[in-house]
Amino acid sequence: MFRQVIIGGLAVATLFAGGAALAGSPQEMLKRYEAEAKAAGIFPEGGFSAERGKAFYYAKHTGGKPATPSCTTCHTDSPLKPGKTRTGKVIEPMALSKTPNRYSDPEKVEKWFRRNCKSVLGRECTPVEKGDFITWMISQ
Ligand code: HEC
Repeated sequence: MFRQVIIGGLAVATLFAGGAALAGSPQEMLKRYEAEAKAAGIFPEGGFSAERGKAFYYAKHTGGKPATPSCTTCHTDSPLKPGKTRTGKVIEPMALSKTPNRYSDPEKVEKWFRRNCKSVLGRECTPVEKGDFITWMISQ
């Protein structure tokens, strides 16, 4: 994680390039879900996919609560836009470019995946669904 910065041929500073990783980061969440998926034997050959994450986000799911068939129900039809809870509270956009502190606190990420996946799908999300979703949000 240490990186030498070379200016004019001289190493003038050593920066700690992984600062965010200490507090947790979206990349660390991806590593965690990759390890979980591999342990469950379901890690896809091509790795996590933003395309699949996008399709998952927009899909109308069955099995959950009828009032919340999709991630879009609260997070809107664009991860770049602020969403709204069922009671009208504003939710910051899901895209990492808009809300940079997202997907960095493992407890928060897991808590909301658990809760939202149960509402929308009637079950917990798989590590592949979580990894695909975060991969798409990182790209947004
Ligand atoms: C009933 C409304 C609702 C639905 C439906 C919903 N969410 Fe959320 N989601 C929230 C709220 C509220 C939060 C917490 C507030 C925040 O993080 O800004 C949240 C937070 C999250 C987080 C945590 C992000 C972070 O900052 O770490 C993830 C991940 C997430 N949602 C994924 C999903 C996915 C995937 C779906 C669809 C399967 C979904 N949500 C559907 C309301 C919803």
